[in-house]
Amino acid sequence: MGTVEPDQGFSAALRSATWSDHGDNEGSSYMSALVEGRLGQAEYAVLVAQLYHVYDVLEQAADQMAGDPVAAAFDFADLRRRAALQADLAFFYGPDWAERIALNEATRRYCDRLGEVCFDWAGGFVAHHYTRYLGDLSGGQYIARQVERSLGIGAGDDGVRFYRFPGKPKGYKDRYRALLDAAPWDEREKDRIISEVKLAYRLNAEVTAELSRELHIEPAA
Ligand code: HEM
Repeated sequence: MGTVEPDQGFSAALRSATWSDHGDNEGSSYMSALVEGRLGQAEYAVLVAQLYHVYDVLEQAADQMAGDPVAAAFDFADLRRRAALQADLAFFYGPDWAERIALNEATRRYCDRLGEVCFDWAGGFVAHHYTRYLGDLSGGQYIARQVERSLGIGAGDDGVRFYRFPGKPKGYKDRYRALLDAAPWDEREKDRIISEVKLAYRLNAEVTAELSRELHIEPAA
């Protein structure tokens, strides 16, 4: 039996079908430590480096999918994050940041999956795009405030450009959800997308779990 309720818009159905998977991310030791102010700049920078690899692949996929009318509609120019991540990495690591950042094992697995499903399947692209960009526009805005406060950065946006969008997050989120509701997917395709979002959450959780191990971060008390 499908997980999509027929009387619900797809944006609401997607959110409710995957919200428990979201919790595994929010509750990870690394993310808890980050929002509780228990990490230093160097420990935060390692996450930014992992995210750079992820967005690099996602945005290459967006370029590739530019001719697909369903997928391309979700790729708002304002949401692209690669340049912001590059600026944040230059802030944390200096001008030679590209030689100083490393791809972790879990990030490689995440990027491999993006390579498998985001370049020729519109639903797969949207599943992964949604998981990251709608998150950046939602909890990401809260995370940014915690990071600014605890790391003492953010004046002039340095180090937190990743979380800064030209317009108000709510406007992008409303537009994004309207696109999810209007997309021409049948119930079977919606279920496939929900499964892919669940996988995307798991892959994200594995990235932060690896960072917790690498950086010896304790779970929240
Ligand atoms: C400390 C970590 C996190 C916190 C505190 C957090 C918090 C939140 C909150 C409060 C919302 C709901 C906002 C609203 O209703 O407008 C949200 C939405 C969302 N978050 Fe997170 N989040 C965290 C980590 C993550 C991660 C790591 C991801 C994915 C990689 C993620 C993806 C999402 C997505 C996709 C949504 C939108 C769900 C929807 O409305 O369809 N979050 N987050």
